[in-house]
Amino acid sequence: MQNYVLGHSNRELRRLMLQANNLRPITTRLLREIGLARGMRVVDVGCGAGDVAMLAAEMVGPTGAVLGIDRNAAAIATARERARAAGHINIEFVEGDASEMTGSRNFDLAIGRYVLVHQSDPIALIRAATTHLRPGGAVAFHEVLLLGTWWSFPLVPLWEDTSDLINRTFRSVVTCPDAGARMVEHFYNAGVELPRLFSETPVGGGPDSPLYAWAAETFRSLLPRAEEIGLVSRDEIDIDRLEDHLRQAVTAVHSQIGFAHQHCGWARI
Ligand SMILES: C[S@@+](CC[C@H](N)C(=O)[O-])C[C@H]1O[C@@H](n2cnc3c(N)ncnc32)[C@H](O)[C@@H]1O
Repeated sequence: MQNYVLGHSNRELRRLMLQANNLRPITTRLLREIGLARGMRVVDVGCGAGDVAMLAAEMVGPTGAVLGIDRNAAAIATARERARAAGHINIEFVEGDASEMTGSRNFDLAIGRYVLVHQSDPIALIRAATTHLRPGGAVAFHEVLLLGTWWSFPLVPLWEDTSDLINRTFRSVVTCPDAGARMVEHFYNAGVELPRLFSETPVGGGPDSPLYAWAAETFRSLLPRAEEIGLVSRDEIDIDRLEDHLRQAVTAVHSQIGFAHQHCGWARI
């Protein structure tokens, strides 16, 4: 699959930024565990709107350097503009397919977030990512599991039904919905050592949880596809009020809700 399944409209790029705010603490944990430090060089494969690249740039500081790669021109333009507006002088962005690029073997870290799930050949992307690395450099991925249903206790049918629609729609378009659960296998097949792994699940409840907006905006992006494959018709879903409906349904029964599992893995070469 050549193109990113959710497109790169302004609305989708904004959704990626909302998502990035929620994912930031988990990706930060991954970067800290790897030992990312000032002065290091990082490549971000499938950088999208540039959130991981900018997070890495903050951590490596002005003496370090970050290269973001994305195969979509609109994503690269947005990432460049955001990095410029945020005052980063140490990030470069290039357009291209990261799984077909050979790197310069002088980076300390190659990282991708939410990118293996979109590959026709995830092993090729892992292999290509390692070509950027110096000996002893680290390759890392932060992936989402697009399987199953998110939970709620007490049960909130709207939350679980929404998650079911989101995951079923994603599974109809992404090539590797289980990539986050196959890092051991994919790293092995790419000739990389056994990855160190951890998983986090965003959980929430109450009126101020960011999970309602994250779920509703994700479903908004997926809605055309959900209709196309006959999962819903637009009349059944009040997409503009879904966020509020989720908030009301969850808070009415004092439910605690779980979101999609996040899997992070990394290894040195
Ligand atoms: C879900 S977005 C994630 C963006 C970013 N990593 C983040 O976490 O905010 C996936 C991005 O990866 C890009 N992408 C997917 N496969 C790629 C590849 N093989 N080479 C370059 N970019 C790729 C898509 O164009 C899209 O912008």
